[in-house]
Amino acid sequence: MAAKILSGKEIAQEIRSQIKAEVDELKNKHGIIPGLVTILVGENPASVSYVKAKQKTAHELGFYSIQENLPEDVSEDELLKLIDKYNKDPKIHGILVQLPLPKHINENKILYAIDPRKDVDGFHPVNVGKMVIGEPGFIPCTPYGILVMLSKAGCQVEGAEVVVVGRSNIVGKPVAILLMQKRKPVGNATVTVCHTATKDVAFHTRRADILIVAAGRPKVITADMVKEGAVVIDVGVNRIGTTPEGKAILCGDVDFENVKEKASVITPVPGGVGPMTITMLMKNTLESAKAWHGLPSEVA
Ligand code: GUN
Repeated sequence: MAAKILSGKEIAQEIRSQIKAEVDELKNKHGIIPGLVTILVGENPASVSYVKAKQKTAHELGFYSIQENLPEDVSEDELLKLIDKYNKDPKIHGILVQLPLPKHINENKILYAIDPRKDVDGFHPVNVGKMVIGEPGFIPCTPYGILVMLSKAGCQVEGAEVVVVGRSNIVGKPVAILLMQKRKPVGNATVTVCHTATKDVAFHTRRADILIVAAGRPKVITADMVKEGAVVIDVGVNRIGTTPEGKAILCGDVDFENVKEKASVITPVPGGVGPMTITMLMKNTLESAKAWHGLPSEVA
């Protein structure tokens, strides 16, 4: 069976149209413009391209948006000062510090310094805690995008065996927590998390009705590791070369060409989870703006 290709690009487009309509209404009715600052430290090519895409989308949706570029050797103190400035800026409702940060900067110290009410990445411990206990708050953008994709694709999540490969704070851990929450329609799953110390990853992945891969290694999930008819969500974005024009050649963590013959649904790379991550960042920023102005919001 050849899988249905689940295009994040198409779903993202649909959600972006809804966000744009809401932004226009917020502006016209209440004079509110959602504001986002993205902070980039250094020139990691992947981070540069992610931040560019986030800024481009923010502009297209009519947000007030600022890009801060800091040199690789910026001090922790300078970065903290900048965060403090935007914590106090009433025009800004969302602060995103692109990760990873250079080694001399304590990542947690930076993430903890962001006002939790502007933490549109959902990485502050206050928001992580709220997510774990099922309270409204900011949900990290990639896991949020995955939930929306599963919902739009009509996947049966309740009661499903979900296997997550990878335990990062950005994807693996939060997506596992969200899918095990007692919540319909996208929740109530039985979740297994595989990581670098898992003895036999294939033993687990072969049992998965829904397989979510965020391992950060190109094509580690091969067709023999996937159950016939499984839903496969590939979060990996690996740069495996460059075109003669200088564009990065990307591939996922899943061997797409072979796994698509076995899965029932599969996300491509690029054009799968990536566009959803950016879209959910915009959604979080919009909801943050509403909450700051006392309007009904999904995050408050
Ligand atoms: N680096 C990789 N993914 C992300 C993300 O979702 N947010 C931030 N801030 N950095 C990242």
